Amino acid sequence: MSTIEEKLTKLREDTLKQLKDLRLENQKELQDLKVSVLGKKGSLTEILKGMKDVSQEMRPIIGKHVNEARDILNAAFEESAAYLEEEAIKAQLASESIDVTLPGRPVAIGNRHLLTQISQEIEDIFLGMGFQIVDGFEVERDYYNFERMNLPKDHPARDMQDTFYITEEILLRTHTSPVQARTLDEHDFSKGPLKMISPGRVFRRDTDDATHSHQFHQIEGLVVGEGISMADLKGTLEMIIHKMFGEDRKIRLRPSYFPFTEPSVEVDVSCFKCGGEGCSVCKKTGWIEILGAGMVHPRVLEMSGVDSERYSGFAFGLGQERIAMLRYGIMDIRGFYQGDSRFNAQFKG
Ligand code: PHE
Repeated sequence: MSTIEEKLTKLREDTLKQLKDLRLENQKELQDLKVSVLGKKGSLTEILKGMKDVSQEMRPIIGKHVNEARDILNAAFEESAAYLEEEAIKAQLASESIDVTLPGRPVAIGNRHLLTQISQEIEDIFLGMGFQIVDGFEVERDYYNFERMNLPKDHPARDMQDTFYITEEILLRTHTSPVQARTLDEHDFSKGPLKMISPGRVFRRDTDDATHSHQFHQIEGLVVGEGISMADLKGTLEMIIHKMFGEDRKIRLRPSYFPFTEPSVEVDVSCFKCGGEGCSVCKKTGWIEILGAGMVHPRVLEMSGVDSERYSGFAFGLGQERIAMLRYGIMDIRGFYQGDSRFNAQFKG
């Protein structure tokens, strides 16, 4: 065996072993090895330099062995390259795979705004008593907001509700009471009494502070039918206040004035903090003013074409913010409108 053959065999074996053992980290290392073995200045070329010393008759045999070795090594390098590529793809797939068994990221779940909760709670109570829920217009005509509420153009009581006017005849409604007139106009009394509530946003020209806002929310209530009396008003209010503030609350009616009700009352609820003994919530009086109400003024009925000799009714208007503030001890009305989710999240219910 010539030294060339020995060298060839050794190169083959060493290279194959290297390819097998080295667990080549990447294609670059593989490429370097290939160049060092099969490249122009590589080991094989180096071995071939010895050919000049080989005898004439041995040359074809050794030449064959050289070619064989080159083929085998080329094939081995190709195989390794393919293997590395496959491994690289596997590693990439593994690193990018999605583990479907991982627990999901929690999604922040919001909750209904406190005012929505309050109005839905009140709506549910009245729906259960057969009331209809009516939507009104936030942009309203002076005619419905004032005149039809028995407040003609120069009526001094208009000053009680500082108004945003859009034109002389169109304004942002100052209360939900115009819905009374609109609903009365539509109602067919041959089908029974009118029982409705109307929740919604109202506007007044006010300087915003902790207890005043240029916009707030009311719920209007109206019942008109035959033989409706003040006792019905009181019973209805008692029921709603018991549901909102607890069964052992008492109510008190005080004489008041609204142009669209006669008689008019201011309704107080016995303090739910101190139970009537006097504390900071009720300003030491034992009572908290909660809403305005009264018997529908005959003129309001007549303006809708309703016979005030035959039909009578009561109406009330309550402030949603006021109820929420009292119930949850909220100190600043502006919290309702600032859209800070931390405010709202306190009322997940
Ligand atoms: N509309 C009155 C207000 O906003 C409240 C009210 C409604 C009073 C219905 C009596 C009857 O002040």
